[in-house]
Amino acid sequence: MGATSRAFALFFALAASIPASFFLPTEASPKVGSTVATAELETRAFPNAPDGYTPQNTTCPSTRPTVRSASALSDNETSWLEMRRNNTIAPMQDLLGRLNISGFDAEAYITKNAKNASALPNIAIAVSGGGYRACLNGGGAVQAFDSREINSTAAGHLGGLLQSATYLAGLSGGGWLVGSIFVNNFTTVTALLDNDASSVWEFGNSIFEGPATGSIQVLDSAEYYTGIEHEVSAKGDAGFNTSVTDYWGRALSFQLVNASDGGASYTWSSIQLQESFANADSPMPILVSDGRAPGETLIPGNTTIYEFNPFEFGTWDPTTYGFVPLEFLGSNFSGGVLADSEKCVRGFDNVGYVMGTSSSLFNQFILDVNETSLSQLAKSFVSDILSRFSESDNDIAQYQPNPFYGYHKDTSRVYQEPALSLVDGGEDLENIPLHPLIQPFRHLDVIFAVDSSADTNNYWPNGTSLVATYQRSLNGTSADGGNLANGTSFPAIPDQNTFVNLGLNTRPTFFGCNSSNTSSPTPLVVYIPNSPYTYQSNISTFDPSYNTSQRDLIVENGYNVATMGNGTANSTWPVCVGCAILQRSLERTQTALPQACIQCFADFCWDGTVNSTNPANYEPTYKINNPAKKSAAIREVASCSFAAVVAMAVLAMVW
Ligand SMILES: *[C@@H]1O[C@H](CO)[C@@H](O)[C@H](O)[C@H]1NC(C)=O
Ligand SMILES: *[C@@H]1O[C@H](CO)[C@@H](O)[C@H](O)[C@H]1NC(C)=O
Ligand SMILES: *[C@@H]1O[C@H](CO)[C@@H](O)[C@H](O)[C@H]1NC(C)=O
Ligand SMILES: *[C@@H]1O[C@H](CO)[C@@H](O)[C@H](O)[C@H]1NC(C)=O
Ligand SMILES: *[C@@H]1O[C@H](CO)[C@@H](O)[C@H](O)[C@H]1NC(C)=O
Ligand SMILES: *[C@@H]1O[C@H](CO)[C@@H](O)[C@H](O)[C@H]1NC(C)=O
Ligand SMILES: *[C@@H]1O[C@H](CO)[C@@H](O)[C@H](O)[C@H]1NC(C)=O
Ligand SMILES: *[C@@H]1O[C@H](CO)[C@@H](O)[C@H](O)[C@H]1NC(C)=O
Ligand SMILES: *[C@@H]1O[C@H](CO)[C@@H](O)[C@H](O)[C@H]1NC(C)=O
Ligand SMILES: *[C@@H]1O[C@H](CO)[C@@H](O)[C@H](O)[C@H]1NC(C)=O
Ligand SMILES: *[C@@H]1O[C@H](CO)[C@@H](O)[C@H](O)[C@H]1NC(C)=O
Ligand SMILES: *[C@@H]1O[C@H](CO)[C@@H](O)[C@H](O)[C@H]1NC(C)=O
Repeated sequence: MGATSRAFALFFALAASIPASFFLPTEASPKVGSTVATAELETRAFPNAPDGYTPQNTTCPSTRPTVRSASALSDNETSWLEMRRNNTIAPMQDLLGRLNISGFDAEAYITKNAKNASALPNIAIAVSGGGYRACLNGGGAVQAFDSREINSTAAGHLGGLLQSATYLAGLSGGGWLVGSIFVNNFTTVTALLDNDASSVWEFGNSIFEGPATGSIQVLDSAEYYTGIEHEVSAKGDAGFNTSVTDYWGRALSFQLVNASDGGASYTWSSIQLQESFANADSPMPILVSDGRAPGETLIPGNTTIYEFNPFEFGTWDPTTYGFVPLEFLGSNFSGGVLADSEKCVRGFDNVGYVMGTSSSLFNQFILDVNETSLSQLAKSFVSDILSRFSESDNDIAQYQPNPFYGYHKDTSRVYQEPALSLVDGGEDLENIPLHPLIQPFRHLDVIFAVDSSADTNNYWPNGTSLVATYQRSLNGTSADGGNLANGTSFPAIPDQNTFVNLGLNTRPTFFGCNSSNTSSPTPLVVYIPNSPYTYQSNISTFDPSYNTSQRDLIVENGYNVATMGNGTANSTWPVCVGCAILQRSLERTQTALPQACIQCFADFCWDGTVNSTNPANYEPTYKINNPAKKSAAIREVASCSFAAVVAMAVLAMVW
């Protein structure tokens, strides 16, 4: 529990300081119409819930939805992958060509194997949780990987990795990043940041003071506040259990989806209708959440891990071991089927609720309302809301009816539960969403794992998340007879002291270079830990005031973390990224490793050395001698903390 309560405190600290501006969609933000016809969906895709936030009974399709066993990929994913793998070929050729591995014609290699998708590299990116810090540091990394970003395809940069990737997974704060990119039509990080700052922060003020006068016109505050309460109550009135996460998710959506109505009709399953996703021009976004029964203490490594992909919700774990079509989540499945008397419920998979579920730890900040400077009246309103929920369950998201009711009775821990309870995806210490990416069915070759966790006492990562994933993959059979690893395979990972002693947490490190060390196919993990290149991005801010300069410096540092300062901190890094991409593929096609790659693996692979002595306090120094822009004038903006915004929203719910 120690780690968890510390995490609560930390997450509160971070939540207390999320700038509303980060989440605001800009020009890519779709307009929300009251009813959206199917034809319109092709261009707008998102607002397709039948009745805003309230899930509705609808007529079932001729083939009634069912829960399927996790014994294969879904047909939807399989057919999407055929397109996606093909669509990654050109970006990969382009990227590998630019990375310019000496003595190796990567373009020719890809061309030669283009007809055989299974020979080609299969890439994933995972961005960890860690609240505001993770969202921005991960944002910088994704920006660096995105060929649409200015300068990202220059020498020393890594633009095109995002376009070459099959999956992009996020969890908690990293889930806000992934969600905000996809919910806003697969936009860029720069577009998310690049608001007209003044109008954004006027929007922030308007939460308290009235409608904005800037580019984003909102309802007045009273409508906003009462709106959230009405939406959550309406969901309750329609027969669905609600939880603190409903309020949190709705408030989060106002920052994330659309300023004018908070995207009440936007569903995660509608991502499959979005043009870029439907054409497989983007990776597949996946968010992660943990199963946790009310009152239960979550045991790392013994948790059922669920995923939300655009097609389905469910788990590969041999406990529940099933997936439900996401669009019909909320339908009353029993034993995996929907009785003839049942309607097909749609609109349950609201994007804010899905993102809020993956980041449900942030519910906790509401508990600290008494520590804020809100008025006494506000505090008692919030306390009143909280009193409706049991204290120990404040981080829980209720999925009721439980789609897995009566399903897999022999192995499931939840088959008798009328409601499935989910919590923040990082609560099992696996703070990097690797679980969906190490599933054997997905055949990934390489995972770029961006870690913004706050493991050390000054909020830097120390490998804890990788250790947790590794431990879980080892437990072929666990004490209770379960077999949670269930075919997943993960590279060997040393203990955290070794991470710190060898500096594995201060620069990118490859794990699993030698695939002959594992018996089943195992992806190479490129671990990219948050560290200071141009900014001390280990922020833990109790300070309620924000400035956009700091936000931008963290994103820029994240760009430098991913690119090692565009190659300035290590000139071989870009080539070595190319080698990491290619390694498993070269092995499959029995192609000799280029000499440059042999050197890369000597430099960047963890070589199996362990030093478990207690390290001194980890206090990394700047990786780039002369951090740019340190003295840039810091523009103070209105002190409008995200926590205050949400707390105000919650308080107004009882209006
Ligand atoms: C989404 O982005 C694509 C590609 O940039 C663009 O063609 C399309 O018009 C956008 N759709 C909307 C609804 O903005
Ligand atoms: C997903 O699969 C279902 C059932 O096979 C099919 O009806 C649906 O059109 C598919 N959706 C997409 C986006 O491919
Ligand atoms: C593969 O992708 C290329 C370029 O994106 C496209 O021209 C071609 O039609 C695709 N082939 C298949 C089989 O999808
Ligand atoms: C792009 O690179 C040029 C040349 O190095 C530089 O002047 C410019 O500021 C860069 N733009 C961005 C957005 O980084
Ligand atoms: C949806 O249908 C179920 C029965 O299939 C019924 O119990 C429930 O009340 C209906 N919900 C709404 C909101 O109409
Ligand atoms: C805030 O303080 C009041 C008065 O001490 C108390 O009744 C209430 O439960 C507290 N609220 C929370 C959320 O701790
Ligand atoms: C690593 O992080 C874990 C989790 O926060 C912590 O318990 C441990 O003391 C840390 N170890 C080092 C060496 O930083
Ligand atoms: C996994 O195995 C390790 C080492 O045997 C053990 O400490 C841990 O409790 C096990 N975890 C589970 C979930 O069984
Ligand atoms: C794992 O969790 C299940 C139920 O949640 C429990 O019955 C079992 O004892 C736990 N196993 C371990 C090794 O903690
Ligand atoms: C995973 O678990 C399922 C359900 O228990 C089982 O059928 C399957 O064989 C397992 N897969 C592996 C690779 O162990
Ligand atoms: C690397 O490039 C990015 C984007 O152009 C830029 O913001 C950053 O300052 C560059 N880093 C260094 C160390 O020059
Ligand atoms: C790059 O970093 C690796 C790993 O720390 C190191 O072995 C190598 O010498 C560095 N190369 C350069 C050119 O700095």
